[in-house]
Amino acid sequence: MSTDKLDSALNLELESLSADGRTKPPERIIEKYIPPRGETGPRYRLKGSEMEFIRFNSNSYLSLSNHPSLVAAADKATLDFGVGPGAVRFIDGTFSHHIALEKRIAAFVKKPGAKIFNSAYTSNCGLALSISNKKTHWIGDQLNHNSIIRAMRITNIPSENKGIYKHNDMTDLRRCLEEVRPEIERVVVVFDGIFSMRGDFAPIHEIVDICRSYDDKFKDGVITIVDDSHGIGAYGDTGRGTSDHCNAWPDIVVGTFGKAFGVNGGFIAGSHALVESVRQKADTYIYTNPLSVADCAAALTAIDICDSDEGLSLLENLKDRTAQFRKGLENLGLESISGPHPVVPLMVRETQKTQDLVKYLFENGVLVVGLTFPVVPRGDETIRFQINACHTSTDILYVLDLLSKFQ
Ligand SMILES: Cc1ncc(COP(=O)(O)O)c(C=O)c1O
Repeated sequence: MSTDKLDSALNLELESLSADGRTKPPERIIEKYIPPRGETGPRYRLKGSEMEFIRFNSNSYLSLSNHPSLVAAADKATLDFGVGPGAVRFIDGTFSHHIALEKRIAAFVKKPGAKIFNSAYTSNCGLALSISNKKTHWIGDQLNHNSIIRAMRITNIPSENKGIYKHNDMTDLRRCLEEVRPEIERVVVVFDGIFSMRGDFAPIHEIVDICRSYDDKFKDGVITIVDDSHGIGAYGDTGRGTSDHCNAWPDIVVGTFGKAFGVNGGFIAGSHALVESVRQKADTYIYTNPLSVADCAAALTAIDICDSDEGLSLLENLKDRTAQFRKGLENLGLESISGPHPVVPLMVRETQKTQDLVKYLFENGVLVVGLTFPVVPRGDETIRFQINACHTSTDILYVLDLLSKFQ
């Protein structure tokens, strides 16, 4: 047997993706991490190049991935317990590190309990499997992350049990709530905290207020869920993300350890009943090995740092560098979307120009993400810059200088 027939069919599908301009470029391979030196932040070497690159495309907002305490904690956990759990959680794959991380992250996001997952992606899918039934109606923001869209799909609810509101449009959210059929018992409203391609945030205080006003209409109420994967750890007065910024806490919080915390893994935080339902019903929790103890130990250390003076000063630096970059773009007369978050989009609004600018930045040692048609509508072409706490003022000035010279 061979897969020749399947391979030809797959190749045709890949050609069609490519013709639509939807294929991902080849993956660049990082071969070396170069620690910060003097006025410059860390640099990276890529396979096939002698250049040193600055990453302006990393989600590691607090730059904790290479922090000596995280590395030491991961090393110690590995030396003590080994590299893999050997089984899923309910078949003795649960180690003290898993429990400790669940308690720590729940306390961090001010919820009674939490369950950890391999990623935020699988957390969203697991959450949907745990809380949805035939009488559940789901409502989401039009620009929600792919993992939320996928989570809503795997609930297998009929299309009339779904509503999508225009991005951050509260009038349209009300319309979606008004349209819920009377036989529905449970309404779930789910949204990103930070919209990762734009750096803008959900007005959680307004969403929570609106949902509360509809709560009595439904047997199980209206449940709010924020997926604040890009927000938690990255902004807000105490680093608790969009809820911190809006001073409003949705019923359920989903997040990742793989962005500001610099490690890997995801979580769902909420009531004890919710956490137990997730443990019993979330296939993406039950039937897969958990995070390694090394990941858990590193994530625990990251949260502790976030809650310390060191964390607050990293957050302050991140805020300052973000403000410096935003101000610099403004001074150059370049368009962005305003906001407090270290995702700073540069609105280029032309596909060719966006591609040329991404190439020019790459040739000058700067890694960024460009979004062009058809991934975004014509006119919305953007370059996403992500500021990290490790960027120095000199790094920011270097990029701004490059942008000022681009023709
Ligand atoms: C809102 C949101 N949820 C989930 C994810 C996925 O996170 P993870 O890598 O932990 O699966 C992302 C990542 O981009 C995201 O922006």
